[in-house]
Amino acid sequence: MKILGIETSCDETAAAVVTDQREVLSSVVASQLNVHAPYGGVVPELASRQHVRDLPRIAAEALSRAHLSWSDVDGIAATHGPGLMGALLIGLTWAKAAAWARGLPFIGVNHLEGHLLACELNHSLLPYPFIGLVASGGHTSLYYVAAGDPPSYELLARTRDDAVGEAFDKVAKLLGLPYPGGPAIEKAAQEQPTVNTVRFTLPKMKDGSLDFSYSGLKTAVRYLLAKQDSRTVPLTVAEIATAFQRTIIQDLLAKALAAARRRPVQALVLTGGVAANRPLREAFARAAHENHLPFFCPPVEWCTDNAAMIAAVGARHLAVGQRSGWDLPAVPNLELAVLAKTGAE
Ligand code: KG4
Ligand code: ZN
Repeated sequence: MKILGIETSCDETAAAVVTDQREVLSSVVASQLNVHAPYGGVVPELASRQHVRDLPRIAAEALSRAHLSWSDVDGIAATHGPGLMGALLIGLTWAKAAAWARGLPFIGVNHLEGHLLACELNHSLLPYPFIGLVASGGHTSLYYVAAGDPPSYELLARTRDDAVGEAFDKVAKLLGLPYPGGPAIEKAAQEQPTVNTVRFTLPKMKDGSLDFSYSGLKTAVRYLLAKQDSRTVPLTVAEIATAFQRTIIQDLLAKALAAARRRPVQALVLTGGVAANRPLREAFARAAHENHLPFFCPPVEWCTDNAAMIAAVGARHLAVGQRSGWDLPAVPNLELAVLAKTGAE
C-alpha cells in the first residue's frame, strides 16, 4: 500500500509517499523560511498563501521522485491539527479533494502522532511502551505511548505557557539572532560551550507535575540584557545562548527521565523540531545510556515538520480500516490525549 501524505500545519509545505511498511519512497519539503524571516516569526496569512502556491507542485514532485503516478496511490493522509487554521485548511482541503476526485480513501492525521512515531520511518518498530517527548515550535509535551494498532497515548505533561521552540525563537530575537531561533542559538552557543558567568533557574511545579514553563526564562533573558550596561564586562551573545540552551536541555532531560521513572517503559524517544538540536540529542543519548534506557531520536530531516511522518501514521490507520469523513474539520488545538492525573515523585 502506498500512501501520499500532506503536511501544511505551519510554515512547511510538505508531501511524501510512504508504504504501509513505513518505507519512505519520497519526501519533499518546501520551507517558507524566506517568507517569514523578515518578520521574525511565522505570519499565518502569508503561510496559507504560500501553501496555496506550493502544494500542487510539491505533491506532484513527491509522486515523481517516487517514480509513481496517481494510479499507484492507494490512499491520502493529511494533517488536520494541531496547527494554524488557515495553513491546515489548505493541505486538508487539497488532500480531501484529491482523494474524492480519484476515489481514494482519505485519513486525517494528528501532527503530534506523526512526530511521536517519526522514529519508525525506514526503521524497525520502536520498543513499546515508551516515553515520548515532542519538543517543537508549538508543543512541549511528554507522552506515555503504549503498543497498539494504532498505539495509544497518554499525556503526562505539557507546557503551561511558551513551547520550547517558541522560547528558542523569542530569546533569539532578544539576542538579535535570526529566525528561526533554535538553529541560531545552537550555533551561537558553539562559540563558547562552557559558561560560568550566567546561570538561569526555572520554576519548580509545586504540585509534583512535570509540566514545562519557559516564559519566565525569556523574561530573565530580557532583564539580563537590560542590565548589560551596568556590568563591567558585558555578557556576550554566545554566553547567554549557552546558558539558555543548557537550562532548557537540563529541564527537558530531567522531566523526561522523571517520567520514565514513574512508569516502567522500554525506551525514551525525543522528537519534534527542537530535537534537531545536537547538544540536546547528545545529552539525552548520554543520560539514557547511563539509565540503561534505549534512546531513539529521528534523523534531523524527520525531527522538523515533514509529510513522511504524516503518511506513515495515515498508512497505519488506513491499514486497520479507519477512514475520515469528508466533513473532517481542521482543528488548530487538536489534542492527542487527555492530561493524565499526576502524582508527586
Ligand atoms: O516541529 P517543527 O518543525 O514545527 C512545529 O511543529 O512547531 O519545530 C520548529 C521549531 C522552531 O521553534 C525552531 O526554532 C526549532 O523547532 N528548532 C530548533 C532547532 N532547529 C529547529 N530548536 C533548537 N535547536 C535547533 N537546532
Ligand atoms: Zn511539528
